[in-house]
Amino acid sequence: MKILIIGGTNFIGPPVVRQLITMGHEVSVFYRGKTTANLPPGVHEILGDRSHLLEMKSKFKQLSPQVVVDMIAYNQQDALTLMNTFEGIAQRVVAISSIDVYRAYDVLWGKESDVIPVPLTEDSPLRQQLYPYREIPSRPIAVPIDYEKILVEQIVMASNLPGTIIRLPMVYGSRDFRHRLYSYLRRMDDNRSAIVLEDNIAQWRGSYGYVENVAYAIALAATNERAISRIYHVADVEALTEAQRITKIGKIAGWQGKVVIVPKSQLPSEGKLPVNTQQDWFVDPTRIRQELEYKEIVPLDEALRRTIDWQRTHSPQEPQQFAVPWLLDYAIEDAILSKFP
Ligand SMILES: NC(=O)c1ccc[n+]([C@@H]2O[C@H](COP(=O)([O-])OP(=O)(O)OC[C@H]3O[C@@H](n4cnc5c(N)ncnc54)[C@H](OP(=O)(O)O)[C@@H]3O)[C@@H](O)[C@H]2O)c1
Repeated sequence: MKILIIGGTNFIGPPVVRQLITMGHEVSVFYRGKTTANLPPGVHEILGDRSHLLEMKSKFKQLSPQVVVDMIAYNQQDALTLMNTFEGIAQRVVAISSIDVYRAYDVLWGKESDVIPVPLTEDSPLRQQLYPYREIPSRPIAVPIDYEKILVEQIVMASNLPGTIIRLPMVYGSRDFRHRLYSYLRRMDDNRSAIVLEDNIAQWRGSYGYVENVAYAIALAATNERAISRIYHVADVEALTEAQRITKIGKIAGWQGKVVIVPKSQLPSEGKLPVNTQQDWFVDPTRIRQELEYKEIVPLDEALRRTIDWQRTHSPQEPQQFAVPWLLDYAIEDAILSKFP
């Protein structure tokens, strides 16, 4: 099968490309040439900016991909241009979305009050307010101000060109530019005797996915016609509490310390997060497993071990930018630990 990836050279894209090549498909990547990845031999590269996608329609017609996987459709315009460019060329588009489309995300961030039942299914209610990152001063890296995967999904699913949506959880693994494990691992490698966690955060559960597993799910969705007009989310099968997750990372990292759970009332105001931890944010991982026979190709412990190995040799350049907001600085933590040994 001929598959075109829009993007494909940063974090999640390269393992998607590798999976598709391993499965025997012919893969092209379209990107600007600013981000480099070690892609397997035989991958065809097309340089360009997605804002000029439509102007390159004749080039894509020549290439004639059967499926287009758009890794980086962030806003309404991206999706409109995507569908207009490939209508009449491709047979299907797969768009990469996020579990931030669910209303539970707004409840978590205090924008809505009624807690949504979990696990979330693909049919759980979506956010009622658009543009989730518009008011957030430190938007996730590379996310434009008009980021809105709900609009991307609507356009892809309403087009004459068939579509598939994959909603991703918090993804971790090699080349994770958000360095999701860094804040924990740093404390562990600094031989901190304990990590202090607010009780509400300790029991909170969110969905994570290891990059190679997520990439495998995307590759399955791109190559199986059963995925036509379907929406899937993908995530690690078990959603751990934050305390369980840190403990597991610690065990694999060889950390001798422990997680100390402290009532919120005992934390200084700067340690209190404005999130509603009554709202968990984890998904039911069943649909993609049943319909596309997806299962993890890398088990959880091995996924964490690979991520830890990579993270240890790839510290973020600006550590404070990647801090997990609920972790305290060492001085505050030491003061609390003197009361909760
Ligand atoms: N990471 C997470 O935890 C997470 C969670 C939920 C959803 N997601 C979604 O997952 C997706 C994957 O992100 P990723 O960075 O891992 O994808 P990726 O496909 O590995 O990397 C992004 C690619 O887009 C290219 N690119 C960026 N701007 C471009 C432009 N204007 N025109 C053409 N190409 C452009 C980059 O190369 P150049 O810079 O060279 O152009 C790079 O190849 C995103 O849609 C994100 O919203 C991620």
